[in-house]
Amino acid sequence: MERHSSARPRIPLIAGNWKMYKTSAEGAAFIDDLAARVRGVTGRDIVVAPPFTGLAGAVRAAAGRGIQVAAQDVYWEDEGAFTGEVSPGMLTDLGVTCVIIGHSERRQIFGETDEDVRKKVHAALHHGLLPIMCVGETEAEREAGQTEEVLARQLAHGLVTLQSEDAGRMAVAYEPIWAIGTGKTATPEIAQQAIGFIRRQLAEGAGEAAAESVRILYGGSVRPDNIDELMAQPDIDGVLVGGASLKADSFARIVAFEAG
Ligand code: 13P
Repeated sequence: MERHSSARPRIPLIAGNWKMYKTSAEGAAFIDDLAARVRGVTGRDIVVAPPFTGLAGAVRAAAGRGIQVAAQDVYWEDEGAFTGEVSPGMLTDLGVTCVIIGHSERRQIFGETDEDVRKKVHAALHHGLLPIMCVGETEAEREAGQTEEVLARQLAHGLVTLQSEDAGRMAVAYEPIWAIGTGKTATPEIAQQAIGFIRRQLAEGAGEAAAESVRILYGGSVRPDNIDELMAQPDIDGVLVGGASLKADSFARIVAFEAG
């Protein structure tokens, strides 16, 4: 992928989380369409995350087009009697380069714990996959003034084994649960405030240099009409997009964000 030097200290990362949408053929067709629309857009990493069944087709479709493919989850063991699970090595074998870990839907619907997230992040790093570790508070937690406490707990547990040299090889996604799929985007100020807090927590845990190299994304009702103001915030290094990543025209507009 082409890299530009710019005023930004970190290369923006724009990731589409397709959740449980798109067959393999639909995903490959989407990537063809997206690649044509974002040709010439440089200076940012573009990632799509299909369901497991779409990964191989997506990697083939994305080859040589400046688009990377992420999985939506991974297990921490290399192999074994773990029915239904997929190992990090199985992902890298396909050409997958990133993995979303600890999405709030995994935590809330499938009971993933902070400890599970920690093991998955560690395994992904060990296998050279870029983990995109998700954190975020519920609406009730925000209303009770517990946002920072929740974020600090999720970060401390998830990253307890993080070495400072791993920081540049991972990303954190701040996804307030009240903003996911609701159309209620966090204001750029709220997103910046939470993401600034996350960066300060990382600095406390892993040092200034590590905190400056971790890319921190915002996720939750990101759309073509709010991407530019989100990306104008100093600590927002990219976005994790759900619904608006399913259509090539809207995702291409998000990829082509215009901001400082
Ligand atoms: P929406 O963009 O649909 O709100 O989903 C956000 C999300 O969960 C991305 O991981």
